[in-house]
Amino acid sequence: MPTQTLHISDKTFELYRSAEQLHAIVSRLAQELNRDYANQKVVFVIVLKGAYLFAADLLRKLNIDNTVAFVKVSSYNGTESSGAVKEQLPVTDDIFNQHVVVIEDIVETGLTMEFLLNSLKQRHPKTLRLCTLLHKPHRFKGNFTIDYIGENITDEFVIGYGFDYEEKGRNLPNLYQQRQ
Ligand code: IMP
Repeated sequence: MPTQTLHISDKTFELYRSAEQLHAIVSRLAQELNRDYANQKVVFVIVLKGAYLFAADLLRKLNIDNTVAFVKVSSYNGTESSGAVKEQLPVTDDIFNQHVVVIEDIVETGLTMEFLLNSLKQRHPKTLRLCTLLHKPHRFKGNFTIDYIGENITDEFVIGYGFDYEEKGRNLPNLYQQRQ
């Protein structure tokens, strides 16, 4: 049985999705990608740090011809978006005329992703799609389509399975949500 309640710094988190539930979500997303990109070559752009566990699990379930690139964009301090987006580690791989799929941990306001998608578009990929494990639709202000969504969740802050609170909790196999 996974731990039900966690304390990190000043916050308390409760079990929200087990590793098994997360893997079922990831398997469904992998099926969708395998179907949509059958017989095509894809560049997967993995957004660091949060998407690292999700991407590792997802990519192992894909049978698509692919290469992997990494990007680091940051806008968060603690549990609040700082509003200012920075590309700390840009995509160095060639994406011109390629099918590109961005693999993200969560789209909340969409500010981070809007910035990244606009930056990638300037490099003229053949197609550009977005796959996110989680989405907080009530907070969304973006002007773009999310092509693949693992799960729409409520607004509370989550940690585990790649998600952190002040850089802690990323390695947890289960997902926890902040207690209200
Ligand atoms: P957005 O720009 O508001 O969409 O924020 C997206 C980024 O904020 C994600 O890539 C995460 O790194 C971070 N983030 C948003 N919500 C959470 C959360 O509940 N837990 C941990 N990180 C989060």
